Amino acid sequence: MDKLIQKYFFFFTLFVLASTYSLDNSTAPYIFNDLYSLLVQWPNTFHPNGHTIIPGILEPYTLLYHARKDTEIPPPSPEWLAFDPEMSYAVMATKLPGPTYMYTYRTTKSAKVLYFNGMSAAWGEGWLDTQYTVLTGQGKTNGSRNNEVSLWDDYGRAKGLCQWSEQRGFDGIVRMNAGFEIIWCNFNSPSLRLVSSLNITPPGTPEARRSFPFPLDADFGQSSSDELPLHSFRPPGRGPGRGRRPGDGGRGPWGYNTAPLARTGFLEWMRAATRYHSTIQPHLSLSYHQMVSFYYPRYQSLYSSRSGKLMQEHLLWEHITDEDVRTFLDELDSVVSTDLPGTEFDWQAAAMDVVAFWADRIGQTQHLLDGVNSTLNLTDVVRTVQQLSYSSLNPFIAYGDALNASGHDIVFNFRSSPSLSPGTIAPETTALERCTYSATEFLAEPELQILMTSQEYILKMSIETILERLCTDFGTLFAESTDLTDSDSYPTFISSWNSRIDTLVRWLEWPAWLRCEEICDLDSICTMPAWPITWGGGPFGGRPGPGRSNVDFLKPTCRRLTM
Ligand SMILES: *[C@@H]1O[C@H](CO)[C@@H](O)[C@H](O)[C@H]1NC(C)=O
Ligand SMILES: *[C@@H]1O[C@H](CO)[C@@H](O)[C@H](O)[C@H]1NC(C)=O
Ligand SMILES: *[C@@H]1O[C@H](CO)[C@@H](O)[C@H](O)[C@H]1NC(C)=O
Ligand SMILES: *[C@@H]1O[C@H](CO)[C@@H](O)[C@H](O)[C@H]1NC(C)=O
Ligand SMILES: *[C@@H]1O[C@H](CO)[C@@H](O)[C@H](O)[C@H]1NC(C)=O
Repeated sequence: MDKLIQKYFFFFTLFVLASTYSLDNSTAPYIFNDLYSLLVQWPNTFHPNGHTIIPGILEPYTLLYHARKDTEIPPPSPEWLAFDPEMSYAVMATKLPGPTYMYTYRTTKSAKVLYFNGMSAAWGEGWLDTQYTVLTGQGKTNGSRNNEVSLWDDYGRAKGLCQWSEQRGFDGIVRMNAGFEIIWCNFNSPSLRLVSSLNITPPGTPEARRSFPFPLDADFGQSSSDELPLHSFRPPGRGPGRGRRPGDGGRGPWGYNTAPLARTGFLEWMRAATRYHSTIQPHLSLSYHQMVSFYYPRYQSLYSSRSGKLMQEHLLWEHITDEDVRTFLDELDSVVSTDLPGTEFDWQAAAMDVVAFWADRIGQTQHLLDGVNSTLNLTDVVRTVQQLSYSSLNPFIAYGDALNASGHDIVFNFRSSPSLSPGTIAPETTALERCTYSATEFLAEPELQILMTSQEYILKMSIETILERLCTDFGTLFAESTDLTDSDSYPTFISSWNSRIDTLVRWLEWPAWLRCEEICDLDSICTMPAWPITWGGGPFGGRPGPGRSNVDFLKPTCRRLTM
């Protein structure tokens, strides 16, 4: 194609696309949040009811840890591998009496994994919902009759997920609770090499009154005198020590004395879980063009379960119809069984760029407007609002072509032609349009249109919807604060900006605003509650659980790591 026509076509497609595909965008903020949060600890704790599944690759030569109570090598499959040795140690050496053996592994080549987002390795309804749909192929109404859905049956769940995934060429399933872990489907696989197997039992560990067969036999836990391990078929009884948490003294969670050296195991696990609280878990890379989500607009049966609710209150499995589950699984199946390359665009980085660019300014603007009172000089407030909104938009504002334009015109009406390269003619666009399509405009290129998968198309719509809203809201703040001449109307405008930004923040629900209000001492970490260490929730009760609002409970705080 001739270069000139190509450029015309490029911009033409851009705006035709934007106007003709009037996809219902009401789930755009949820899809956007799931996208930018993939494999990051805090966002998946704040929005724990994951709706998204995405294939990925585990790097060769990645260290992984598996602790257990017996010496079986290789362990029966499937079993768990942790990225953080602290997780393996705490689960076995701190939590359970009897000897602990640590098996350290390293991958020998790339392994294919399937990642379930949210707090998907924790036991609670909401948290496990996406897995239930894969395991049963149905919604809760019909699917809960299936044996594979017992909250306590983590091995049953692992087997079911592995059965589904191995048939499709996956080596394991990545999930998160306090840190990330892998359900590894086959320990005889050549992709995994044993580095060492050690008896790491700390001195003073009490003897187990019986052995812990892993996986547990079916009648384990029947007797109330059995020590209850983490992977139990049954809810823990009301035995001594039930519900104990690290920091409660020397006694383990199930009521026996933990070895002195093992006592801080849970705190160290928490340290590990906080290590990557806002950055992506290393050693994994995701295939964004294959991301499938129950937040895609086509799942009509979920609409009512979401309306007026926070993301952390969205319950999926109890609302979805069997038909929508089938549609979802068909899409997942077709995505993992075809190997379309996609555009190779790093969608998560694009979403993270948007958040990085906007989150602080939104936070500062909201803080300013929330704090307005009669003692403040409103002229200063208006000027600060103008400055903050301008700083978000100035890469797109062509003031040089219209020095005298009003604030409103320069953002919403004045058209400039972005000069692409000498000799080409680009259509004229407004600052609002340039801002809205700033992350995705290149995808209008015909070559990329051909490569883009339908999953990427939804990611594109979601990023554009978020940007359109951000650019419109901050464009309005800039236009009004710039064009305002009558100081008598300051209070009216300030109050309307305040509610506009509050509404925006509620709509976005960005975990990017999570932070400790204080600076933590060196013997402390800034951490969110983490299941099962400091967040009982779900089946353990005593704390807010899935489907209820946890906003205050989930605020990060400084926690001491010594006891
Ligand atoms: C998409 O969202 C915008 C606001 O961001 C709204 O004006 C528009 O009506 C929405 N479109 C649909 C189809 O819901
Ligand atoms: C449950 O299964 C029945 C029979 O197949 C079906 O008619 C019904 O719609 C299903 N319920 C849901 C919520 O999908
Ligand atoms: C007004 O706001 C300023 C700045 O946020 C604060 O320092 C001051 O204490 C507030 N005054 C009143 C009366 O609330
Ligand atoms: C508010 O601040 C502006 C400039 O910063 C100043 O000109 C004006 O006199 C101040 N108004 C009041 C009421 O102090
Ligand atoms: C801006 O307005 C002033 C006064 O109306 C005029 O002299 C000047 O030429 C205008 N500049 C531009 C770039 O339009």
